[in-house]
Amino acid sequence: MRDNVQVADLFEPLALGPLTLPNRLAVAPMTRVSATADGLPTARMADYYAQFADGGFGLVITEGLYTDEAFSQGYLHQPGLANAAQRAAWRPIVERMQSRGSRVIAQLMHAGALSQRNPHRTGTIGPSAVQPKGSQMTFYRGSGDYAVPAAMTQRDIDAAIAGFAQAAARAREAGFDGVELHGANGYLLDQFLSEGSNLRDDRYGGTIDGRLRLLVEVVGAVRAAVGEDYVVGVRLSQAKVNDFTHRWAGEDEAATIFRTVGALAVDYVHVTEYEAWRPAFETGPSLAALAKRHGGKPVLANGFLHDPVQATGMVERGEADAVSLGRGALAQADWPQRVRNGAALAAFDPAILSPLADLANAARWREDHLPG
Ligand SMILES: Cc1cc2nc3c(=O)[nH]c(=O)nc-3n(C[C@H](O)[C@H](O)[C@H](O)COP(=O)(O)O)c2cc1C
Repeated sequence: MRDNVQVADLFEPLALGPLTLPNRLAVAPMTRVSATADGLPTARMADYYAQFADGGFGLVITEGLYTDEAFSQGYLHQPGLANAAQRAAWRPIVERMQSRGSRVIAQLMHAGALSQRNPHRTGTIGPSAVQPKGSQMTFYRGSGDYAVPAAMTQRDIDAAIAGFAQAAARAREAGFDGVELHGANGYLLDQFLSEGSNLRDDRYGGTIDGRLRLLVEVVGAVRAAVGEDYVVGVRLSQAKVNDFTHRWAGEDEAATIFRTVGALAVDYVHVTEYEAWRPAFETGPSLAALAKRHGGKPVLANGFLHDPVQATGMVERGEADAVSLGRGALAQADWPQRVRNGAALAAFDPAILSPLADLANAARWREDHLPG
């Protein structure tokens, strides 16, 4: 029993635009590379997602879904929302979660230069022909260096924007409660935001306003595609999957980014840091607190918040309106129920995701580690 931990704030409802979440606990988006080769979600994925709804999470954000049948796909067996068959396959999965009380948001992702394997295209594209730092993730079936991307033409940019918009429309048709645009972690929208990967001298590069332009245009196109009364969120981060220590230029740049995004037709901003409560820069407020201060929209905070004291603190101090859990949700899909009942929490074991981050590997781990 953790009867000295005051967790009540996490269980208050929260309005995100037209949507009301039953509590402030979300499952963070997590790529599990477990779809069919055609990017269709499977029965095993349906069960995996349903357990979070059963466990009391008020919101489930899906793993990053690729948006088009061109350059967006990042990983083999990544699920998509790029065609009618994928849209149809998500519908019963979404309805099952909703029938158990969760709201469900589709994360829309274009991998850009971080694409490791994509059956639709050979080669990758990005803002500029700069080889990404780091090496491909083996737990998503990658190996070796990233390819040098082709610098995107205006036509490529228009196609990527249209891909996000059409995928968002499919999300609405499939019954999702909203979409989250993946502007974080080093993927395409973040590649445009970052000076290291964006060397363009046209309207999509240069100043921070130029580097934000693609995100701004994607939000505009997505909003036009889904209409006014539908949740659109944006996820942002400093760190990247291929560069964990990357930092924005400083608090001024963070203020500009959050002001720009907050002024768009978005319903929330989702920020992720390694430890959400730490100062975003050397000293000063956390990234979540900066997002709240400058963006003026509801903020979801992510990063090592599976400790209920830290999670509650973020909400109590007003640094965030809700929290999302990644590894904590993998360790126990019923984290909300356990915390509410003061039950023990299990530690996350990275072996769940090793050697592959897929659900078959997790099932093997469970057989080896859990009784019965
Ligand atoms: C296996 C795995 C897959 C992930 N895939 C995604 C993804 O598809 N989209 C995304 O925005 N973040 C992704 N993340 C990052 C998580 O959403 C989250 O930011 C990270 O796990 C840190 O939060 P935590 O400390 O609660 O685990 C992934 C994380 C893990 C562990």
